[in-house]
Amino acid sequence: MRLLEERILKEGRAVNEDIIRVDTFINHQVDPKLMAKCAEDFAAHFRGDGITKVVTIESSGISPALFTASEMGVPLVILKKQPSKVLNDNLFQTMVTSFTKGTNYELTLSKDVISENDHVLIIDDFLANGEAVTAAVRLLRMAHATVAGVGILIEKAFQPGREKIEDAGFKVYSLARIGSMSKDRIEFI
Ligand code: G4P
Repeated sequence: MRLLEERILKEGRAVNEDIIRVDTFINHQVDPKLMAKCAEDFAAHFRGDGITKVVTIESSGISPALFTASEMGVPLVILKKQPSKVLNDNLFQTMVTSFTKGTNYELTLSKDVISENDHVLIIDDFLANGEAVTAAVRLLRMAHATVAGVGILIEKAFQPGREKIEDAGFKVYSLARIGSMSKDRIEFI
C-alpha cells in the first residue's frame, strides 16, 4: 500500500537491520486517518471471505484491528497477554515466545467471545517470526473457529513469519513488505 510505504520511508526509523521504529504513527502515537485507510484496504481484500470477527493481539495490533472491524461491520476480539486473575475453565491459554523482545507471555481468549461458527480475520501491526499469529491460530483452533486470513501492516519479509503461517495453510496479506533495511535505507518488496 503506497500510503503506508511512504509514511514508513518518511517517519520510520530503522534501528538496525532487524528492527524498525514506527512510534510516531503506529506504536506510540497513532495516526487514525492512516489506520482508517489501512482498514479500507484490509476490508476490500477480505470482503468476500465471510468474516464474522476480527481478532488481534494486544497492544499495538488494536488500532488497525479496530478500524478494520468497524469497516467490515463486525466485532473486534483482543487476545490478552495477562492471564485472568480469576481462575476459571472459561479460558483458552497458550504460551508465546517473542524473539524480538526476548520475552515469554501467556495469551488468553475467553470462550464467551469466539465460537465454532466464527470466521476470523487476524490483524496485527508487525509480522516478524510469526509467533504471535501462530499462537492466535492455536487459541482460535481450541475454540473450533475458522481462521479465514491474516492481515499485517508491516511484514519484515526477511524473517520467517510469512512462511510459517502459509505453511500452516493460511493466507497472509501485508500492506507493506520490507525486504531489507539498514539505518539509512528501507527497501520494499
Ligand atoms: P512475531 O510475533 O512475528 O514472532 O514477532 P516477535 O515475537 O519476533 O516480536 C513480537 C513483538 O515485537 C511484537 O510486539 C511485534 O509487534 C514487535 N516487533 C517485531 N518486530 C518489530 C520491529 O521491527 N519494530 C517494532 N517497532 N516492533 C517489532 P508485541 O510484543 O506484541 O508488543 P506490542 O507492541 O504489540 O505491545
